[in-house]
Amino acid sequence: MSAVANAKIKVDITQRFDALTVFQNLKYTVAENEFLCILGRSGCGKTTLANLMTGLLKPTEGAISIDDVPVDPKRHELAFVFQEPSLWPWRNVRDNIRIGMEIKKVPPDVVEQRMAEMTELVGLKGFENYYPYQISGGMKQRVAIARAFSVDADLILMDEPFAALDAQTRQKMQAEVLRIWEQRKHTVMFITHSLEESIYRPSGSSY
Ligand SMILES: Nc1ncnc2c1ncn2[C@@H]1O[C@H](COP(=O)(O)OP(=O)(O)OP(=O)(O)O)[C@@H](O)[C@H]1O
Ligand SMILES: [Mg+2]
Repeated sequence: MSAVANAKIKVDITQRFDALTVFQNLKYTVAENEFLCILGRSGCGKTTLANLMTGLLKPTEGAISIDDVPVDPKRHELAFVFQEPSLWPWRNVRDNIRIGMEIKKVPPDVVEQRMAEMTELVGLKGFENYYPYQISGGMKQRVAIARAFSVDADLILMDEPFAALDAQTRQKMQAEVLRIWEQRKHTVMFITHSLEESIYRPSGSSY
């Protein structure tokens, strides 16, 4: 079987906004549980690609499919981590992490088990009762990452998730996200303008 036949996600699109062609015959595939990094300078179309991947923006030509079904937020489980962590200020860490599972109607016993697993995995154990205003930017992103990895997403889309963090925290979070992905394999598209971030490997890692 060819690599394309094995692909979970197939992208084959052209995207234009009036006279501006952002993508001309952009074609690639993503395998199940692959961690794909998309690197591009400011304004090249990264957020446009993220919007297309969610199915909310329809490509001018071509299509994006997940498991051979045109991408559709109603049919696919899509999870996001954006530059600004989208936490609900009136909910504590625990209740922010569980938002995704609540929406997906995950049974309560599974929610409890995953909550325990994920808070441990992202290093937020002991902070479950803290509110967003009581935690740092890096911790907020950990909440968003825990939320994304706690649902059985077909695709986790990360659009410059660490851009607002300082260099040291950013480097730490890059290692963290790869470690989390190693333990809870999902298909991830990680979008960044940073060459350093796109080729980042924790020292001693095999991937
Ligand atoms: N809805 C839209 N209508 C018209 N033009 C758009 C629209 N969305 C994006 N563009 C244009 O498409 C190009 C790519 O924008 P996009 O936001 O995808 O870039 P980006 O790579 O995410 O940039 P940055 O790194 O600065 O976030 C830009 O020239 C932008 O003006
Ligand atoms: Mg952008």
